[in-house]
Amino acid sequence: MFDLLAPFYDPAMRLLGASYSEAAALLQLHPGDLVVDVGGGTGLGARAAVAAVGCHVLIVDFNAAMLRHGRCDGCIGCVRGNAVQLPLPDASADGVMILDALHHFPQPERALAEVARVLKPSGRLAVLELEARHPATKVLALAERLAGEPGVMWTAQQLAAMLRQAGLSPLSIRGRGFGVMVTAARPNVM
Ligand SMILES: C[S@@+](CC[C@H](N)C(=O)[O-])C[C@H]1O[C@@H](n2cnc3c(N)ncnc32)[C@H](O)[C@@H]1O
Repeated sequence: MFDLLAPFYDPAMRLLGASYSEAAALLQLHPGDLVVDVGGGTGLGARAAVAAVGCHVLIVDFNAAMLRHGRCDGCIGCVRGNAVQLPLPDASADGVMILDALHHFPQPERALAEVARVLKPSGRLAVLELEARHPATKVLALAERLAGEPGVMWTAQQLAAMLRQAGLSPLSIRGRGFGVMVTAARPNVM
């Protein structure tokens, strides 16, 4: 699906008025922090974090076309890779963002466990997802399934439970139109 969408992705998100600044704020980043944008696609979230905080962002995405059509400016790298096998040592990242991407991962629970592995103690994760109960989400889920995507969506409570299952502690849940932004932190002791 993203091979086809990649050339139009950034203009489409601009038209939809998508905002990427909130994740960086919720991660409470500092200049020089290492942040991973997992399923970062064309780098919209990564660029917003770099512009807002001056952190070092690594984009990891499975789709070569999304990376090719994206922009890496300011980021320390754009890597083709799988969310379940991030190219980072244990406890090395200050923050992780997964924006409108978790429901595209074939193994979302494994991806969250991988995030818990790479986060430093107290490091934060911000997940932006579509809320399963919203009618617009149900339509999108059907369209995504028809396009061959997993098309599995979660309620805010289910997302929080998945984060807990991965060993992370949910901090906040905020509704965003038909979406939801959930933040969590890696506990000091896992
Ligand atoms: C809807 S796009 C979101 C891109 C970006 N986060 C944003 O908000 O603009 C979902 C992204 O997840 C990526 N993706 C899907 N499965 C993946 C996986 N297993 N590992 C890494 N990225 C993956 C897709 O290639 C796509 O770029």
